[in-house]
Order: sequence, then structure tokens, then C-alpha cells
Amino acid sequence: MSHFSYRNGELHAESVSLADIASRFGTPTYVYSQQSLLENFASYADACAGRDALVCYAMKANSNLAILRLLASRGAGFDLVSGGELLRVIAAGGDPRKCLFSGVGKTRDEMRLALSHDILCFNVESIPELRRLNEVAGEAGKRAPVSLRVNPNVDPKTHPYIATGLKANKFGVAFTDALDAYRLATSLPNIEVVGIDCHIGSQLLDDAPLLEALDKLIDLIDTMESEGIPIHHLDLGGGIGITYDDEQPVAVGDYLGRVFARIDAWRQQKHGGRPIKVCFEPGRSIVGNAGVLLTRIEYLKPGEEKNFCIVDAAMNDMMRPAMYEAWMGVQAVTQRSGDEVQYDVVGPVCESGDWLARDRGLVVAEGDLLVINSAGAYGMTMASNYNTRGRAAEVLVDGSRCTLVRQRETPESLFALEQLPAQS
Ligand code: LLP
Repeated sequence: MSHFSYRNGELHAESVSLADIASRFGTPTYVYSQQSLLENFASYADACAGRDALVCYAMKANSNLAILRLLASRGAGFDLVSGGELLRVIAAGGDPRKCLFSGVGKTRDEMRLALSHDILCFNVESIPELRRLNEVAGEAGKRAPVSLRVNPNVDPKTHPYIATGLKANKFGVAFTDALDAYRLATSLPNIEVVGIDCHIGSQLLDDAPLLEALDKLIDLIDTMESEGIPIHHLDLGGGIGITYDDEQPVAVGDYLGRVFARIDAWRQQKHGGRPIKVCFEPGRSIVGNAGVLLTRIEYLKPGEEKNFCIVDAAMNDMMRPAMYEAWMGVQAVTQRSGDEVQYDVVGPVCESGDWLARDRGLVVAEGDLLVINSAGAYGMTMASNYNTRGRAAEVLVDGSRCTLVRQRETPESLFALEQLPAQS
């Protein structure tokens, strides 16, 4: 259920009018619905209830501390991809021992940091990384818990920039090399093999590719166990998509139901019913539809071929359209009567790629507010300061209460770290 809805012609986030948020906090502002976040997380948590399973929220989708704390309070672990993300988890009161560390380029410093906080597992993506982690763990007097991220070579049928499980992608250890990589891992003194991992892509609408990847991992685990390499957890990554336009993604509960049915049947058949821990790394499906980007119309600029609706949010605030030609929904905050006019909704940044939506019918006037829908995931986390634009404010709504969970950046803060060389 959406927690962004019209009441008397005015769009609200839960019980708070977006027009009130704009007048209190200005624009552009990301607005998140707490209820929506909790419901989305619950769709995973409920399907995992009573099982040895861990939902590790992929915080790259949205790493605001308030969101991390909320999810941590409901038992979430986290999938992280940098030392910075680990420090965020800790700052938000999350538990590092429920953290998985993914990513192809972990530095020595990041490894040391993660080891010092006893994270649950490193999702290792290559042999050189495995060797480095072995060294760093040895220096720290620790054994690093490791899963190999296996690349199952399954086509996730999504945008090429967010497909990760194909042979041509930089991610993971090739499926055909995985067994040898595990043999190597078990021979390294400071590595402790604990699991197996894959993540095949993002914004997947159908779970068939995910189940195909699961089948491949199951076969591999059986082969490994027959060689005496025990696996304690199986991590299926994230990837379940959301509705931006008219997409109909698989329901999270249905997907998890199918995953557990397969796993249960397999464990029953081959492992005497002995369970295996299962981890998931969902990002978008938890936060995507829990947030909007609130923006104000600066100008309506009629053109010969196109009309432009120039708003105060831009590609630096929301990169998805410029980067993936992503379709994002746009709605007027105040419903007006009148004839729709077709607009391209664009920002003030000096790039033709700076558009947020194209060819949309809107009934709007200058000064009106718009929202870009489904902006909770990969919105603020991908924002930049291009054109010396401070990043947007972020507001979390809980019923009739709203909290500024990140201040708007000031221009001064954007050049505060810069220094002028001495004049000669
Ligand atoms: N685990 C790993 C290792 C990942 O790389 C990702 C996302 C996830 C989990 C979470 O996937 P999700 O559940 O959100 O699909 N910026 C792009 C999406 C990039 C996804 C990167 N990896 C976008 O805006 O569409």
C-alpha cells in the first residue's frame, strides 16, 4: 500500500502534507515514509520468520542514519560495500556482526576496519582479494569469515548497467572457477570459509533467474560438501524490482516462499533435513517506493518542439534518468483542474542529460510543487555536488510527525575542504 496519497487534492506523505514539508524545509527535499519502509522490510522479515535467515539491507540504496537505525531496530543486518558504510552502520547503532561486506575493490584499510568490528562475512570477489584478505587477517591475528561471490552466469533480464551475474561483468568468481577458488580458500590459514554468495542484478521483475542461480549454488554446495568444505550460509543477494511505471515485480513473499521451498526440499533430500542459514541483500525493494523527491517548478518554458518544466531538482539530486534513462513517475502535489500540457521535466544543471522525466502530461503553474516518485532508492546516495549544488534535505515522516534527518547542504560546506595555494 502506498503511503503517499491525495487528501482533498493535496499529496500527503502519511498524514503530513508535502506542501507543508516544502514550506518548512524548502526544496528539493527527499521525503521518506516510515510506515512504508517498515512494511517493505516486514515483507522480508515475515517470510523469514522462524527460520535461520538474515535480511541484510543493501544500504547503498539509501544510507541515511535514520533509515539504518529504523531497520536495525527491526533486526536487519546490512550489506555494505565500503568502510564508510560500515562506519555509518555503527553510527546508526546497527550491529557489525550482522554485516556482509561486498564489492570488488576492498582496500587493506577497509579489511582491517571490518575485521576489527567482527563483521559476519566478507563476500570475496576474486582470488587476489582472497590472498590479500588472508594477509591482512594474519597481521591482525584474526581469521576472516569468507563467502565467495560466485558469478552464476545467469541473465537477470534487466538494464545492462545493473546486471551483475553475467560472465562479462566484473563481479564475482566465475562459476567454473569457484570450486578451485574454494579449495584455495580452505588452504589459507587466516581464512575461514563460512558461506557462498551471489547477486545477479537489480530491478528484477521475475524471480526465475534468481531461482536458476539458486539451483546452481545448490549444486556447487553439494560438490563442496562432498569434498569436505562445509558451507554454513547461502546468500542470494538482492535484486527484486519495484513498480516505477506499470511493472509488476514478483511479490517478495512469493519469491522467498519459492526459495525456502527449494532449499527445504534439497536439505531434506541430501542433508538429512539439516538447515542452512539463508541471507538476502535487498535494497531497492525496501526503500524505493518509500521515498519521493519533492521539487518546485521554477519556470515553464514553452519551446518549438518541446515544453520544458524547469524544476529546482536536477540530475545531481537524482541521477537515475541521466544514467540509465530510467523512467520515474512525476505527480503534482496540488491537483489542479485544466488541460494537461506535455512537458519534459528538467533541472537547472548545464547538461542536456539533465532531465528527470520526458513527455509527461501535467496540469501545473510556475511555483507549483512536484514529486518524483519511487525515489527512495539510489536517489540521495547517488547525488553529487555538480554545479556546486548542495545536496537535498531529507525528511522522515512517521504518521503526523516529520523529522529533518539530513540538513540541506550549504554552498560554503561544499568548498570548506578546499585550500588556496600560497601566492608566489
Ligand atoms: N547486493 C549487492 C552485492 C549489490 O551490488 C546490490 C546492488 C544489492 C545487493 C542490492 O540490489 P537491489 O535489491 O537494490 O536491487 N543504481 C542502480 C542500482 C545499482 C544496484 C547496485 N547493486 C539504480 O539506480 O537502478
